[in-house]
Amino acid sequence: MTPSSTPSPEGSAKPARELWGTRWGFVLAAVGSAVGLGNMWRFSYIAAEGGGAAFLLLYIVMIALLGIPLMLCELTVGRKTHLSPIGALRELGGKGWVPLGLLFVLTGFLILSYYSVIAGWTLRYAAEAATVGFAPDAGAHFGEIAAGGSAVAWHLGFMVLTIAIVMVGVQKGIERAALVLMPSLMLIILGLAVWAFFLEGSAEGYAFYLMPDVGELMDTTVLVQATGQALFSLSLGMGAMLTFASYLSRDTDLNQEAVTISFADFGVAFAAGLVVFPVIFALGLQDSVTESTVGALFISLPGAFVEMGAAGRIIGLLFFVALGVGAITSAISLLEVVTSSMIDEFGIGRRNAAIGVGILIGIVGIFSALNTDFLGLVDAIAGDLFLVLGGLAMAIFVGWIMKADPAQELARGAGEGFKVIIPTVLFLIRFVLPPVIAIVLFFSLQNSWIEVRAFFGLG
Ligand code: PHE
Repeated sequence: MTPSSTPSPEGSAKPARELWGTRWGFVLAAVGSAVGLGNMWRFSYIAAEGGGAAFLLLYIVMIALLGIPLMLCELTVGRKTHLSPIGALRELGGKGWVPLGLLFVLTGFLILSYYSVIAGWTLRYAAEAATVGFAPDAGAHFGEIAAGGSAVAWHLGFMVLTIAIVMVGVQKGIERAALVLMPSLMLIILGLAVWAFFLEGSAEGYAFYLMPDVGELMDTTVLVQATGQALFSLSLGMGAMLTFASYLSRDTDLNQEAVTISFADFGVAFAAGLVVFPVIFALGLQDSVTESTVGALFISLPGAFVEMGAAGRIIGLLFFVALGVGAITSAISLLEVVTSSMIDEFGIGRRNAAIGVGILIGIVGIFSALNTDFLGLVDAIAGDLFLVLGGLAMAIFVGWIMKADPAQELARGAGEGFKVIIPTVLFLIRFVLPPVIAIVLFFSLQNSWIEVRAFFGLG
């Protein structure tokens, strides 16, 4: 791809938009958005509880049948319009679709507010591993980390870092960060997975993680969780991929990128499981695994690292650095959705937009930092319900509504091999995604309602 910064917006009066400098810049930034906290802890527990190897197969099928087509929906709309979500939906759908763009912005805002809190815990663990080591009583220490002023301080510190990168711009900030950070993260995770293989007692960990349990798959909650996790992990349903694609030149082959991004995301999630479970089982801490709460990984892993002595400290440092890296590249994309919307809608400069919305998100996040139940509530609403709703709307929009021919848009820049399957992809977008995601939405509504009631003490 030719590096450029002045696209010719096909005769429209839009101002020139900054573009990615290189193809890998875009791919790694999108992989960076996808790979994050979701891959490294949420995924492992869902997989282990949802049927192990059987779940992995189901998850791969969901990524191929739902994830990739949905990602293509977002990528086409972004590339076509060169606009952030609100403007893009307005251009291709009319004013009636602006609310969906607003939902995307709200979702990005809310997810980042608590994501940054968890990322703050991660940075704190990394900093401690580098300086004083992991605390002997992991459970009690997590209690200190995830509460009060220190949780707030690390959350705000993480927000400052995120703002600093987004403020600088697409090529110099986001792309440059991704080019350095993503390969490092992958090397660390792969290295750790190889190391974990040689741990004594790791076999039991693999057995727990990968033992196929087909019975679990009959449970609808597993299907719903697999879908929700696929959306969250691939950063779909809130316009992140749409926004990143709006910085692509019009002739990019989106299909190849969608496949690369999705499988890189799956690969990191899978590899992270190959680190987490052998470590926990080798140290006999499996009891903590069955609790898939927000904090489980943040207690059992440091507990394992502390028992491993000096080696554990180095391994633990690497693990939390990788987790922190994943978190920052995801946070960048969340902030970018909100920031680019401010830039496009109100004509605010990038710097001021990033700082302004970043501060607001930081303030809202304080509530999650001080109360992990509140964090869980926002996660259930924005990180689950809103993504599913957004994904459903996006599939309907591209399949049935938008004022552009989806088949032609998908074919633009596509290689010959992919052109052949475009009718299939379009069929999936029109007829398979809407009903399947609608079913998931129904369950997700139920689940969020339970969370809301529980939060307010209504049972
Ligand atoms: N995909 C990210 C993760 O797995 C989270 C995320 C969701 C980022 C939605 C952007 C948009 O951690």
